[in-house]
Amino acid sequence: MGPAYRLFYDQPVHIVSGEGVWLYDADGNKYLDVYNNVPHVGHCHPRVVDAVCKQARTLNTHTRYLHERVIEYAERLTAKFPDGLDIAMFACTGTEANELALRLARAMTGATGMIVTDNAYHGNSWAIAQITTTYESSEKRADNIVTVPSPDSYRGPYAGHPQAAEKYAAHLQEAIDTLHGRGLRPAAFIVDTIFSNEGLPAVPPGYLARAVEIVRNAGGLFIADEVQPGFGRTGRHFWGFENHAVVPDIATMGKPMGNGYPLSAVVTSAKVVDAFARHSHYFNTFGGSPVACAAGLAVLDVIEQEGLQSNALETGNYLLEGLRELASASPLIGDIRGGGLFIGIELVRDRSSRDPATAETARAVNLLRQQGVLIGSTGRFDNILKIRPPLVFTREHAEILLRKLALVMEEIHGTKDGLPGGQTS
Ligand SMILES: Cc1ncc(COP(=O)(O)O)c(C=O)c1O
Repeated sequence: MGPAYRLFYDQPVHIVSGEGVWLYDADGNKYLDVYNNVPHVGHCHPRVVDAVCKQARTLNTHTRYLHERVIEYAERLTAKFPDGLDIAMFACTGTEANELALRLARAMTGATGMIVTDNAYHGNSWAIAQITTTYESSEKRADNIVTVPSPDSYRGPYAGHPQAAEKYAAHLQEAIDTLHGRGLRPAAFIVDTIFSNEGLPAVPPGYLARAVEIVRNAGGLFIADEVQPGFGRTGRHFWGFENHAVVPDIATMGKPMGNGYPLSAVVTSAKVVDAFARHSHYFNTFGGSPVACAAGLAVLDVIEQEGLQSNALETGNYLLEGLRELASASPLIGDIRGGGLFIGIELVRDRSSRDPATAETARAVNLLRQQGVLIGSTGRFDNILKIRPPLVFTREHAEILLRKLALVMEEIHGTKDGLPGGQTS
């Protein structure tokens, strides 16, 4: 497969099966999955698997034929959005959804400028790699793309500043002025509304609404990338943008939508799609197929019927409480933030200098893997433990995580003499 691929962990895991929040390796070891958000309603949820199999046995074509399933799904999905956002277009990956969103924004505004935060991930195609600022691209970033600082209350240029929201938002005007200086206008400002790749920073209240206002005043649209926060993960709301009291012009979503079946979408208004459709048509061979929509419908059913959004809120709050307790005994923990079942733990070498504990974070990730807990890290300095399990994660699972995390923190602090052997039970 070549060297561009990367495996997780010093000792990579060979997983052979999964159920709920559990994964099993080829040697029969069991792992608590604290990392994967794609199996949103749990690994191999029988309801989703059955829906996919049943539809696959009946018919699987594409959107050039009439089919009730795609209409039913478009209606169920758009019903989750504020009025006016009532068109759904389907694709297979978050990258494709973002790519389509850029085309829609350009068609609607007649402009080409893109404003993005400076440590964002939006996908892997050429155009989207250009707005993915967390990785260096092998090609120079094009002139139509301008970055603004990610809003961060813990570190970054205005951390702790009483007017941090206004200060961070002012960079949008600067970005627009830069585009104007290059003879360009903004088509859109795109953010992951939970700033997951940035490490889930606590966003200064009011920042996003103000930033979007500035962009709209300059004729640009706001694209909410909901690939990470969407479908109830943050607990309080179904979509990440709702946490910021701002309504997007275009929303994109993917990953958890099909619980592992490739399914993504763009939701927007008729006005935006009409502008695009005047000069373009859209066809995506696999996007919106009957099987994909059967998966999507089953995921929505399970979220609603199993109360997974409220579980995310309740279990997330319980976990936050436990983590705060753990932090009082672990000086390495500098900050805990997020909400619902998306929580970041920022590790620092020193709480006053906030020196990022990057190597310690990598060690924690690998020690937890040895302890039977699969977790990842994120952030500009890769010093933030990322807790983002399937939404069927309960208090019982949170307790296992807290116990294992406490052991690993003690080991890293050197207050423990080796970890007890292995796996979660
Ligand atoms: C915020 C965000 N947007 C878009 C994507 C791209 O999604 P995909 O990998 O399905 O193309 C990702 C993937 O991690 C993501 O985190």
